[in-house]
Amino acid sequence: MNLLKASDYKDLSRKAANVISAQVILKPDCVLGLATGSTPIGTYKQLVEWYEKGDIDFSEVKTVNLDEYCGLSPDNDQSYRYFMNQNLFSQVNIKLENTNVPNGLAADYEEECSRYDKLIAELGGIDLQLLGIGRNGHIGFNEPDVSFEKTTHIVNLDESTIEANARFFQTIDEVPKKALTMGIKSIMQAKKVLLIANGPDKKEIIEKALHGPVTPDVPASILQFHPDLTVVYCFD
Ligand code: PGA
Repeated sequence: MNLLKASDYKDLSRKAANVISAQVILKPDCVLGLATGSTPIGTYKQLVEWYEKGDIDFSEVKTVNLDEYCGLSPDNDQSYRYFMNQNLFSQVNIKLENTNVPNGLAADYEEECSRYDKLIAELGGIDLQLLGIGRNGHIGFNEPDVSFEKTTHIVNLDESTIEANARFFQTIDEVPKKALTMGIKSIMQAKKVLLIANGPDKKEIIEKALHGPVTPDVPASILQFHPDLTVVYCFD
């Protein structure tokens, strides 16, 4: 496990972007596993800056995102596809057809999960998976008590998650109740994992996840068994 302490959020974002950039330079047609949430925004911003300077080329890069809400279309500003298009894909020279997010509008979600697993396998697996972490230790939408054996699957969102998300929607009825997410097994099969955690409210869970018992109660704790894990953190 490689633990990198950052001095502030900008430093964390630069360090994480450096790891991603190194991956793209070493293997220009690599498969990046990407994440949404507030933490990676600075990392994506840094990558865009380096792209604009000519320091990084995404023309052959392929991406697979961790998760998506069920029922939200790509042009809904709360969908993760929208987030990725806004924060990264539309700002660099990646080919949109090489970017993948689970389809939240699929007619058959089970089929969509199988398609996503197959797609990852056909791409040759994920070279580098970027992850944020929830305060309860979730990674992707793998909430506590998850099975470590799952690949892409459907999850029912916790009541607390639905309530927390309500602020982004007109009414609580519009808040998605389900999501599609890569499973712990999918994440563990990535060749490298880069976990980023920012702010004092992530300190306790990072300590538990990296130094506590490996248990489904703390989904991220499984990462202790990953052979190539880098953690970039700033708790200030
Ligand atoms: P955050 O979310 O980056 O917005 O803190 C992380 C997560 O829940 O995975």
